[in-house]
This record gives sequence, structure tokens and C-alpha cells, in this order.
Amino acid sequence: MNESRVSLCSLADVQLRFLCPGDLEEVRALCRDWFPIEYPLYWYEEITSANSRFFSLAAVYNQEIIGLIVAEIKRHGSLNEEDQGILANSLDECDVAYILSLGVLAKYRRNGIASLLLDSLLKHLTTPERRKVKAVFLHVLTTNAAAIRFYERKNFRLHNFLPYYYSIHGECRDGFIYVLYINEGHAPWTVYDYIKFMCSKVVNGVGLVPWVLFRINRVLHWVWKQPATEQRDEY
Ligand SMILES: CC(C)(COP(=O)(O)OP(=O)(O)OC[C@H]1O[C@@H](n2cnc3c(N)ncnc32)[C@H](O)[C@@H]1OP(=O)(O)O)[C@@H](O)C(=O)NCCC(=O)NCCS
Repeated sequence: MNESRVSLCSLADVQLRFLCPGDLEEVRALCRDWFPIEYPLYWYEEITSANSRFFSLAAVYNQEIIGLIVAEIKRHGSLNEEDQGILANSLDECDVAYILSLGVLAKYRRNGIASLLLDSLLKHLTTPERRKVKAVFLHVLTTNAAAIRFYERKNFRLHNFLPYYYSIHGECRDGFIYVLYINEGHAPWTVYDYIKFMCSKVVNGVGLVPWVLFRINRVLHWVWKQPATEQRDEY
């Protein structure tokens, strides 16, 4: 960790490529250096396997892996309880991408390597065939100031506080969830969003009446369906 920083003259000298099985030991050594959590061997096997379900991209310089990002796409409705509510209810059938891992070798930091890796992931997620992916999210230790600054610089927003989320060397540590919305994804609307929306409609003078009627219709529809569902549940 005392190694001095290396300033890369040009990012053009850095190659991006997907991880392969031969990278396993190198990736394991990097992750052990970067993260206070020990991942099981099968996790390294999965992220480096040839037909991995993960998006596992490495930044390579002088034939050495100097950074990597690992992400996976998941159905929003299948997320763990603490991650629910990233998307609005209307987008529950959509997907989200979860960043499992992002790191850069200490001496190459602040050269834009993590930005390069994240931009590649975002480019991959915003192609027409991945329009269903509406957000990218991650967990981060509340004490990881460098990563928080990085993600905030990249327009990720704090979504949730997770008290005692991590267990590190037998000690409970707090975490944050950070989210970036893509492909017209958005968070559940708050009262503030509704007020803001209605104000904008009033100011613009269009569309408010149809919108209010649509909402009343949705509420009536919901009220109408309630007793029938409850009755069914009784049998
Ligand atoms: C977080 C991390 C991936 C950033 O990698 P990086 O290659 O240095 O990031 P970049 O060079 O692309 O930084 C882009 C911008 O993010 C911000 N940033 C990144 N690191 C920062 C730091 N230590 N302090 C303040 N801002 C920082 C800066 O605004 C930076 O732009 P600038 O250098 O022009 O000011 C790296 O510090 C790291 O590997 N940390 C250890 C592993 C880790 O904690 N990963 C995150 C797990 S959730």
C-alpha cells in the first residue's frame, strides 16, 4: 500500500477484456487486497468462467490486471428485502444491474480506470436489447469515502442506509445502497414527486385533467377489486 502512484500518460494503453479462467488467482489476490471480505472460491470460478452470467471486465496494462468490475443483471422483484423499492412499483417486472465488485490497483488510482470500467458497463446496459434494465445499484461501506465520492461523481444517488449490513472480522458495519437510474428507470414516487408533478402540470396548463382522471380510475379499479380478492382468500 506504500507503493507510489503511477500516472498513466494515456488511457489508450489500457486494454479492456473479459475475465477468463486463467485470471482466477490474479483476481483473487486483487480482491483480497481491496476488500475486507473473503469471497469463496466458487465465486472466483463463476466470475472468471468462460460462459459466466456475470459481466466481468478487466482493465489490463502491461499484461497486468490493474482494475476490474463485476456486475450481474437481476429481476427487480427477486431482490433481497433490503434492496426492494429501488424501482417504482410499475417497473417491478423490469431488471436492475448489481455491481458486485469494482476496484483498481492502488498505484493506478485517480487515472480514470474505474471510470473506464463503469462507463463500459453502462454502455453495455444501455444497448437496445437491455432496455429492461432500469437501474444500477451497489452496496458500499459507509466508511469507504473514496468509493462514495467516486459513485457520487458518477451521478449515483444514496438510496438507503443499511445498519449492521456487513460482518467484517466479526464486527458489524453499516452500509449504503447507491443507485443510478438508466433507460428511463425511476424510483417510487414520493408525496413530494406527486406535488411537483401536479404543480408542473398546473404551470404548463396541460394534461392535468386526464392525469387526475387516470389516477381516480386506478384507485376505483383497485377498490373494486379488493373485496373479490379478500373473498377468494377466505376459501
Ligand atoms: C473507488 C475506486 C474504484 C476508484 O477508482 P479510480 O480508478 O481511482 O477512480 P477514477 O480515477 O475513475 O475516479 C473518477 C473520479 O472519482 C472521484 N474519486 C475517485 N477516487 C477518489 C478519492 N480517493 N477521493 C476523492 N474523490 C475520488 C474523483 O472525482 C475522480 O475524478 P478526478 O480524479 O478527476 O478528481 C478505487 O479507489 C478503489 O479501487 N478502491 C478500493 C476498492 C473499493 O473500495 N471499491 C468500491 C467497492 S463498492
